[in-house]
Amino acid sequence: MCLKEIEEITEMQQWQKSTVYQIYPRSFQDSNGDGIGDINGIISRLDYLHDLGIELIWITPMYVSPGNDNGYDIADYYQIDPIFGTMKDFENLLKEAHKRNIKIIMDMVLNHTSNEHKWFKEAIKSKDNPYHDYYLFKDPVDGHEPNNWVSKFSGSAWEYVPSLNQYYLHLYDVTMPDLNWRNPKLRQDIFKMLTFWADKGIDGFRLDVINNISKDKRMPNDTFETPTDDGRNFYTNGPHVHEYIHEMYRKVFGPNDFVTVGELSSTPISEAVKYTNPKRQELSMAFTFHHVKVDYTNGKKWTLGNYKLTDLKSVISDWQVKMHQNNGWNALFWNNHDQPRAISRFLNDNKYRDESAKLLAIVQFGLQGTPYIYQGEEIAMKNSYFTDIKQYKDHESINAYHDLIKNGTDKGTAIKVLQQKSRENARIPMQWNSSKNYGFTTGIPWLKAIKKDNYSVEAVRKSPNNIFEFYQRLIKLRKKNDTLIEGSYKLLDHDDNSVYSYVRSKGDNKVLIMANFTEEEQIRTIHSDYDLILGNYGDIDSNKNMVKLRPYEALMLEKSV
Ligand code: GLC
Ligand code: CA
Repeated sequence: MCLKEIEEITEMQQWQKSTVYQIYPRSFQDSNGDGIGDINGIISRLDYLHDLGIELIWITPMYVSPGNDNGYDIADYYQIDPIFGTMKDFENLLKEAHKRNIKIIMDMVLNHTSNEHKWFKEAIKSKDNPYHDYYLFKDPVDGHEPNNWVSKFSGSAWEYVPSLNQYYLHLYDVTMPDLNWRNPKLRQDIFKMLTFWADKGIDGFRLDVINNISKDKRMPNDTFETPTDDGRNFYTNGPHVHEYIHEMYRKVFGPNDFVTVGELSSTPISEAVKYTNPKRQELSMAFTFHHVKVDYTNGKKWTLGNYKLTDLKSVISDWQVKMHQNNGWNALFWNNHDQPRAISRFLNDNKYRDESAKLLAIVQFGLQGTPYIYQGEEIAMKNSYFTDIKQYKDHESINAYHDLIKNGTDKGTAIKVLQQKSRENARIPMQWNSSKNYGFTTGIPWLKAIKKDNYSVEAVRKSPNNIFEFYQRLIKLRKKNDTLIEGSYKLLDHDDNSVYSYVRSKGDNKVLIMANFTEEEQIRTIHSDYDLILGNYGDIDSNKNMVKLRPYEALMLEKSV
């Protein structure tokens, strides 16, 4: 490697200093009254996002799709789904975003397609159809499924096709067959398609479940000794995954100077480092999920679970320290379209809603990595808490509900589990103002809006010291603070189950974060030479070396020499 390349690698990139906003287009802003958010809706809110300080937007899939998984089941990679608008609208969105110095990251699903994709329609015609090998078909073993792998949307991961007397693999919904990345023709078709979007002028990709694309060829049975032995050991971070991603880097990401973020569930740090160390030329950054699994019970998601702050702290700290040491880069998030709202889950979305929202913001923006805000997080949106299974549209949640009932859970408890764990909690319409359906649509929203809630963009922004403003300040100050961007991380008091404190350091400069995750006052020691940068109560209650942390109080302090 020549010197210039090394210099480029060590220099901080713009996307490492910027904040990303995630849009779930279906629920963001409807412009034509059909109850579904769309591209023109997004365009109408670009000024709002610019005002917040956003420099990158990640939009979840908008390609043609039957919508069984709200767009993650792609039927045509080359077209915008008419429910969201036209290709012209999309080009206009790009132009309007770029005018405001906002980059657009498209979501790209490369692990599977919809069963309505033309490749799959060809593939099931016959075993010698050229597209048959684009997917993962296997003959039955003793008249049964080829192995015991479980779909992430429940049930077997195999579906039988009688006309072929074969099964196909679907790690997700039965309508989402997995692609065969070993086939070089498939890879060529994928690169061609990625290049098509690059040529349109987009700025990067968020790569859906990208660490699952390379399966162990033998496809052996899993042992089911632990809750995670469901097949994933044989396809997560599989044998050729780094090779394939590097190939995409060389052909598309690198030449186009793309910002890329991989969705890397069930991935250890040692692997995440490989995906994101710039020297390896794979991805810019990694979404990982251990911190949003701390309230699983014995590794099981669909349970009523509590979490311990010490567990949350130790997961986050481990990732902070080891990614930093090994030149990896974290994508920092509390929320996305697959998670219940963090404010409802880990904090208090009722009496201390503002404090809790701001606490989450401080803890997130204090860490090393690129922060992501999921739509509505900047106004403290909370869980939808649907009370009836009929209100749910999401296949994953509906399947989980039926599994719970089948296994003897009563309906009331099953709904409580969904209220706590379902991703539908975060998919309800964005709350813009206090009109009907919160200004999201003039029609009937595709997913019911939350019952009367005083939190909307308009209402929040009218109140003094509001959450939105708080995010604005954090976004600005983080960008200019080298310690926050580049500094090392140290957890303080590992065993404290009420307060999360950590220090970031660069040279002599130190930033200290303290956050009280409880409703009780907590007294802690602190060095008196720290000055308050930002706190969710506006001031600090300290005396000499003691600080009194009020309910859900969070502080960002700085010590400079
Ligand atoms: C990712 C997406 C999720 C989707 C799944 C299958 O996890 O974020 O929404 O259901 O992949 O594509
Ligand atoms: Ca619409």
